[in-house]
Amino acid sequence: MDRFLNHTLSKLKDTHSYRTLPDQVSGSDASLIVFNTNDYLGLTTDYSRIQAGLAAANHYGAGATGSRLLSGQYPTLCDLESALSIRLGKSALVVNSGYHANTGLLGCLPQRSDLILADRACHASLIDGARLSAATFKRYRHTDYDHLGYLIQKHRANYNRLFIVTESLFSMTGASCNFERLIQLKCDAKAQLIVDEAHAVGCYGPSGMGLADAHHILDAVDIIIGTFGKAWGSMGAFIGGSPELRDYLINRCRPFIYSTALPPFVAGVNLATVTQNHSQHQLALATLTRYCHTTLPTGCSPTAKHHIVPLPVGCPEKALAYTHALAQQGIIATAIRHPTVPKHTDLIRISLRANHRLSDIDQLATAWHSIQT
Ligand SMILES: Cc1ncc(COP(=O)(O)O)c(C=O)c1O
Repeated sequence: MDRFLNHTLSKLKDTHSYRTLPDQVSGSDASLIVFNTNDYLGLTTDYSRIQAGLAAANHYGAGATGSRLLSGQYPTLCDLESALSIRLGKSALVVNSGYHANTGLLGCLPQRSDLILADRACHASLIDGARLSAATFKRYRHTDYDHLGYLIQKHRANYNRLFIVTESLFSMTGASCNFERLIQLKCDAKAQLIVDEAHAVGCYGPSGMGLADAHHILDAVDIIIGTFGKAWGSMGAFIGGSPELRDYLINRCRPFIYSTALPPFVAGVNLATVTQNHSQHQLALATLTRYCHTTLPTGCSPTAKHHIVPLPVGCPEKALAYTHALAQQGIIATAIRHPTVPKHTDLIRISLRANHRLSDIDQLATAWHSIQT
């Protein structure tokens, strides 16, 4: 066993892919400028949400005491699902994390006679879900809808149902999907479109439901996944779809059935978050996003400038060296390396927060230019 572990670990070290836990907790040191959290709206420490969580915990206890189907059902969770449902125009089921949502949904919905076509850059939770499924699973090139169209034409006739799976805003590349192309393809192929809005929820849309909400096309997306762990600064996730899908998931989605429900504190925080208006936070984030893309060489297309900002580097050694060099100047940003991204597309991932200052971005730009020379 030790031989296997040591062999694997030294291979990771040889390929500059070895991971270690960071020394400090992000955000705890005020002298650092932190660009590596998913707290896009800066809500994690918001007082009113914490109070709402405490009120729920005082009322219902520290834990849910069981899964939702057993003893873990309590009013705050039901209220949270109703609030989500109103905003999505769909039925909503709350689960414990985005990882549970994606592995649970894809693990139980597509069947042996079905086909899943997913964007190559989809998050590990979507990939793991597709692998759990008995359906055939293929990937199309990242945001390449001609390639998706080609795969549909080649394979659609051999399968019963087709599920097209994408993120709306890709967590690692900062690119966004093209809803117009996806909806056209899904309609032509009589497919189901599944969109993971993990990194867009909260940041976009009049109801804060993400990019589909911002484009006013929520009804054209069959199934939508959102998480509370990122812009909404908490934890948990939801799956939005038809009432029949919700019923099916309650009966078949294994992470939902076999895991203790979210604790009341978390449900209370999440309910307060969904019912708050975050348009000011969204505006602040949009201003920072525009500024960051004009100040740094992000290489993003004009239609894909979001708060996840990739700074291309191209090799894992350089990505690690840049992260260390930035840290020495008090700037925390994460190196994203192969296999998380394809070979030679290694990058530094900058994630913006609504409560960053423009001067934080100036400091990042100065540091970035200084480490290039
Ligand atoms: C696109 C996407 N979906 C799902 C998840 C998992 O969400 P959670 O952290 O709530 O498990 C992540 C996490 O980073 C993600 O990036």
